[in-house]
Amino acid sequence: MDLKEKIRVIEDFPQKGISFKDITTLIKDGKAFRRVIKSMADLVRHKEADLVVAPEARGFIIGAPIAYELGAGFVPIRKNGKLPGETIRVEYKLEYGIDIIEMHKDAIKPGQKVIVADDLLATGGTIFSTIELVERLGGEISAAIFLIELTDINGRENLSEYDVFSLIKY
Ligand code: PRP
Repeated sequence: MDLKEKIRVIEDFPQKGISFKDITTLIKDGKAFRRVIKSMADLVRHKEADLVVAPEARGFIIGAPIAYELGAGFVPIRKNGKLPGETIRVEYKLEYGIDIIEMHKDAIKPGQKVIVADDLLATGGTIFSTIELVERLGGEISAAIFLIELTDINGRENLSEYDVFSLIKY
């Protein structure tokens, strides 16, 4: 099965010049979705993981089933004002725009091993901010895993001190 073929590419969304990788066409195919999660989990199975941490919204679609597959816990990173408990926050730059993300203060204990996961690595801004939140609480990053990596933007450069894995490259 060619997983790349399952991803629909939509030009000029959400703005002109952006070639949007739409994973909804992949995840509605049960076999393809299962294959993606299994393959991504296999890439990081040798890494220690107490927790998988992922940013909303598309990161949840990928991160939660990977956590389940690895037998790890799942911690959500949410956009401003969505988490009910005490939070730590960081302002970050997206591929297009600026946002604030938050994590619960008690989500991670110092020394816990964390895999961060997302659907897409573009500039690396989102995952770098996610990592910052994890590290502020004393979590140790064992890997970063993405379904899609946009290699021409080279977000990997931002993440050079971490082990970065991706399943599909454009
Ligand atoms: C997208 C994507 C990643 C991020 C990648 O999320 O799901 O989280 O951008 O870009 P970066 O590497 O340049 O940071 P978006 O902020 O569009 O939110 P969504 O998942 O809620 O659609």
